[in-house]
Amino acid sequence: MVNELGLGLGLLLALIVVALHYTKGTEWRIADDISQEVLDQRAASVPETDFPEPMNRSIGGGGAVAIGGGAEGELAGEGEEEEDTGFDPSAIPEDEVEYFEVEYVNEGETIEVASNERILEAGEDEGWDFPYSCREGQCLSCGAKLADGEPDDIVHSNNDTLSEDEIEKGYFLSCTAYPQADIGVETNETP
Ligand code: FES
Repeated sequence: MVNELGLGLGLLLALIVVALHYTKGTEWRIADDISQEVLDQRAASVPETDFPEPMNRSIGGGGAVAIGGGAEGELAGEGEEEEDTGFDPSAIPEDEVEYFEVEYVNEGETIEVASNERILEAGEDEGWDFPYSCREGQCLSCGAKLADGEPDDIVHSNNDTLSEDEIEKGYFLSCTAYPQADIGVETNETP
């Protein structure tokens, strides 16, 4: 009796295994990989910028665009005149170039800088490392501040970034700033 029951169960199991073996699956397939397509769509949705550095105010990365009263994040140069500072260092005749004592406070040194020489480059010539990006007065990477002197003691050849208010507080862009008097400067300072 026991053997007959066991034999019956064994046959039933064997039939089930055979039936499962010949049963078709659900035909489920792995979906196509769309990750590259998603990446392409995301890349296409990000606007192009001229200067891919984080403090570039012209793309709204560092706060309001102040020159000319533009709206926050407005792209400098699009439909707006760049600020004409009226200062062209290359127009200064060689015999009219003046030389001033500029103290680089953080470096603890005072050097002579010509009135047609950029404060950033004069310091770099000494072997000092300063932050910069565009070197054209269009971002804020090279920002610096007067530690000694008046705002009029510095003149910019180009300034698309700092507001008059910020300049009044002593801030300047060292990449396009030229001394007009003996001054003290602190590099790596931004409003
Ligand atoms: S490096 Fe961009 S404003 Fe000086």
